[in-house]
Amino acid sequence: MRNPRDFLKPLAIGAPQPPTEVVVKPTRMIHFFDPGNERMRARVPEMATQVDVLLGNLEDAVAADRKVEARRGLIEVAQTADLGDVALWTRINSLDSPWFLDDVTELVSEAGNRIETFMLPKVQGPWDIQFLDQLLALLEAKHGLQQPILIHAILETALGVVNVEEICAASPRMQGISFGPADLAASRRMKTTRVGGGHPGYVVRADPVADNPEAPRVTAQQDLWHYTLARMVDACNAAGIAPYYGPFGDIADEQGCEDQFRAAFILGCVGAWSLHPRQIAIAKRVFSPPPDEVAFARRVIEAIGESGSGVVMLDGKMQDDATYKQAKVMMDVAEMIAAKDPEMKAAYGL
Ligand code: GLV
Ligand code: MG
Repeated sequence: MRNPRDFLKPLAIGAPQPPTEVVVKPTRMIHFFDPGNERMRARVPEMATQVDVLLGNLEDAVAADRKVEARRGLIEVAQTADLGDVALWTRINSLDSPWFLDDVTELVSEAGNRIETFMLPKVQGPWDIQFLDQLLALLEAKHGLQQPILIHAILETALGVVNVEEICAASPRMQGISFGPADLAASRRMKTTRVGGGHPGYVVRADPVADNPEAPRVTAQQDLWHYTLARMVDACNAAGIAPYYGPFGDIADEQGCEDQFRAAFILGCVGAWSLHPRQIAIAKRVFSPPPDEVAFARRVIEAIGESGSGVVMLDGKMQDDATYKQAKVMMDVAEMIAAKDPEMKAAYGL
């Protein structure tokens, strides 16, 4: 374990100071685009008006013979596109791949002051984060970067889940973690062929009726991902970083996507990936707190605020210091989103 006094010292002479806090800003959807696709690159400025984060994907879904093209396309976007105040992230290739080293060295040297966060896939343990941390520090120093690049890990291996608490706390660069159900399913040897969402075979069934064994028995589909998401949310919040649901692969199933995103939001996630323009509106709807909940949270804050603390009843429901804190979480998110999103500002009456 590193000496806590050293944790906030740069890992290379001349590298920028590591971040002391994770900047909290709206990241409701991390919108993936293929930077090797010229048509997609041309649409980047327009996409930037719709989303909170734009991510140039270099990893899975980019074929091996298009990896270099994708990296060069992302550098072009970073150097030339007008993205307003939208954050530009990238998903680099994994540490053991033939592309990782060139991804990091070229992106830092040619676009390191424009790419805010590097998403690292297939993270197994804190050692993976520490390796990237050190490499980034050396490259930042070499190229005179003023701002440290942040790291976002994907939780998508069985070993990564076992080590998730240590991964979250491995570096002050850690911004957050995304849940990666497709790779995680493979790594765990789950018997699925999907990217997130439920599975009709994962059910519990009511007991047989004693005097009528042939009677139909109710089943309820269970959530395959609850354990991992809950553990990830705790690990992230314990380390002061942000948890995200990742991809939902069935693009046509908007209802399924919305339900999956909402379950993650209610559990504590702050955003999800959008893999298709149709998922942008879903993420925006889900990860902006509902206006009626925000209105109720405001009433709780006012009521408890006026009484100092103690207990008040609102609509027959007990409110105390703990519900005040929940209301504050809701209100803080709403205010942060309202500051960026005029439509939500109006909906919240802020
Ligand atoms: C995402 O990368 C996943 O594997 O689900
Ligand atoms: Mg993956």
